[in-house]
Amino acid sequence: MFSYMTTKVGRAFTVVRFGLLILRWCGLRIFISSTLHQLYGRTIFLVATGPLDTLGPSSSFQCTVSLASPDDVEELFSKIRHESPEGKYQLLVRKWYHDLGFGDCYISRTSDTNEICTVCWFVTPGHIKQLRWEDRFSIKEGEIMIENIYVLERYRGTGAHAAFGFKVWKIARQLGYKLRKGYVNETNIAERRYLEKNSSKVHERILERHFLFRVTRKTLEIYDPPIPMKATPDS
Ligand SMILES: CC(C)(COP(=O)(O)OP(=O)(O)OC[C@H]1O[C@@H](n2cnc3c(N)ncnc32)[C@H](O)[C@@H]1OP(=O)(O)O)[C@@H](O)C(=O)NCCC(=O)NCCS
Repeated sequence: MFSYMTTKVGRAFTVVRFGLLILRWCGLRIFISSTLHQLYGRTIFLVATGPLDTLGPSSSFQCTVSLASPDDVEELFSKIRHESPEGKYQLLVRKWYHDLGFGDCYISRTSDTNEICTVCWFVTPGHIKQLRWEDRFSIKEGEIMIENIYVLERYRGTGAHAAFGFKVWKIARQLGYKLRKGYVNETNIAERRYLEKNSSKVHERILERHFLFRVTRKTLEIYDPPIPMKATPDS
């Protein structure tokens, strides 16, 4: 899939197909805003890390976590119909990354109804190398990125996120990784709050620029030593 994406025609085809999926599922407003963002958009990310030998708080939410099978992935994306337009967009973005081979997909299911409630991807240095995205994501051996976490909307604010995070970080530790790394949108207060409670430290602030469907990233600030993650800049 990725070699196909590296040709100009393949890339253009994928962009058009993805645009049509956004239009179909999310509606005209999100289609226009996401297209404008791809034409010219700027997003600031905080790059945060935390050790995997100290796990943060879990919650009483009961779930099981597993590496997703192709059937699980299909079931996950079939849930799109129940999400809000913004949630649909978020899920489509994750599908795009998944189809490219951006990491190994882990899901959680509720212990009582066995319904999928949360998903994330484990991204290793090997994945980044294969995608040739070293200019977008900096990750060393022994580090793992736990990326693109998504909590299905009916499970937001239920503790599903904390229970999942606790379990996936434990799995990452069992796989031998020492450090978890994440790229967090500076405006994502819920994720920042979660990482704050999990003793994450911010060591870089970066600007992601989209211009004519191309992406570049630039370091704005480096924090040495890293600073504690805060839910808001002023808190
Ligand atoms: C971000 C996301 C994973 C958080 O999961 P959630 O179930 O909604 O949030 P949680 O219940 O775990 O909340 C975490 C903390 O943030 C707070 N919070 C949640 N939403 C908030 C908001 N909109 N504004 C401010 N604080 C918020 C919660 O109160 C909680 O703090 P507390 O533990 O002190 O009470 C989820 O909203 C989601 O999937 N969003 C779309 C995808 C996304 O943004 N992924 C993130 C990284 S790629």
